[in-house]
Amino acid sequence: MLDILKKSVAQFALSYVPKNSIIGIGSGSTIKFFIEALSTVANHIKGVVSSSSQSEKWLNRFNIPIVDLNTLNSLDIYIDSADQVNFSMEMIKGGGGALTREKIIASVAKKFLCIIDYSKYVKKFKFFPLPVEVIPMSLNSVSREIIKLGGVPKYRKNFITDNRNYIIDIYGLYIKNSIFLEKMINNIPGVVTVGLFSIRKADILLISYTNEIKEVFV
Ligand code: 5RP
Repeated sequence: MLDILKKSVAQFALSYVPKNSIIGIGSGSTIKFFIEALSTVANHIKGVVSSSSQSEKWLNRFNIPIVDLNTLNSLDIYIDSADQVNFSMEMIKGGGGALTREKIIASVAKKFLCIIDYSKYVKKFKFFPLPVEVIPMSLNSVSREIIKLGGVPKYRKNFITDNRNYIIDIYGLYIKNSIFLEKMINNIPGVVTVGLFSIRKADILLISYTNEIKEVFV
């Protein structure tokens, strides 16, 4: 059921792809559907900046050109999903572990289009563990700092990011001031990125319900 909703919102997102543009894309199952949809109009775009080796594989399968972010100054649009989005358009991302590259690409995009099924749209963040990418040698030191913040850190076993780092998932953290928390966690030595997207949040949100797609703007 959720897959059908992911597929329909991915298809709808095509209407946001500017002609002759280079777009940025995220990672995960929703984005897999988006890449499939994009392949039908691939000749309308110049290429895609990819946020993960997994998305790269799918783009290659459809012969969609991949562009190096270092060759660009900015992007018109970045299209990605999220694990949770709150009513302020802030996101928790990183369930698939690609959060750092996703945050980098989002930071240079003029617009962030987030595409989700309705189950991810929440008034306030709840229950979903907050992912943090960390340099391997800092696993224990970062975990101790997370405990001081009131969270329960859990090392994501058998998972190495595309940047050859580890992921810690933080459980039970009460997120009151998300911008403050994002800055605070990002400041812990050894942290590469926290999967809280509050500073650079979504500009446009597409939410897929069984009978309709809702568009929400900042
Ligand atoms: C990957 C992400 C994904 O956007 C997030 O995990 C949602 O994935 P899916 O589309 O499979 O539900 O942040 O790092």
